[in-house]
Amino acid sequence: MPNGRWFGCRAMTRSFVAIDLPETAADTLARIAAACPSGRPVTEENMHLTLAFIGEVDDAALEEAHDALSAIRAGAFEIRIGGLSTFGGDVPRTLWAAVLPDPRLSALEKDIRRALRRAGLELPHRRFVPHVTLVRFGREPLSAEFPRFIERNAALRLGPLPVRHFGLYASHLGKAGPAYDLLEAYPLG
Ligand code: 2AM
Repeated sequence: MPNGRWFGCRAMTRSFVAIDLPETAADTLARIAAACPSGRPVTEENMHLTLAFIGEVDDAALEEAHDALSAIRAGAFEIRIGGLSTFGGDVPRTLWAAVLPDPRLSALEKDIRRALRRAGLELPHRRFVPHVTLVRFGREPLSAEFPRFIERNAALRLGPLPVRHFGLYASHLGKAGPAYDLLEAYPLG
């Protein structure tokens, strides 16, 4: 059972499971995001790698999710970041840093999804593309400087970055952008 600090606070919680990044890596990515000539940069404290998006759930479902995540047994590993990409095709919605494929990362993501589904949670059917979102774009056209910015940062390489735990997060959407709260951390290895 969780310690109760985050239960009963509100009717529904928008939640997700993610890996946070070491401070130095988050700082580097936040600087790149802030230098992007278009869009809204993600701030350093919001940089993360999402493993599963749970969405809006009530306390009972959140507790089920917590129980399922607590039962996962996996070892610590490392991830590497390499290169930038966008989602959204010709009209990009987000700019992200790619997390290089890693069998232990994929296995953890599968374990988490399986555990959450078995616990009765409905997860969106989206192919897992491991990434860290850096910038979110609105409707306005991208700056003419954007391709040069991408070129300048194409050689981005970070890591190996240690992954020693993953976390259950709550997301609060506000006018100033989203704020994320770590509800519980689950150690690896
Ligand atoms: P993104 O970074 O690619 O936008 C908190 O909102 C986290 O959950 C973000 O990392 C976000 O991914 C992810 N997320 C938000 N909505 C989602 C959805 N409908 N399906 C999958 N992931 C989602």
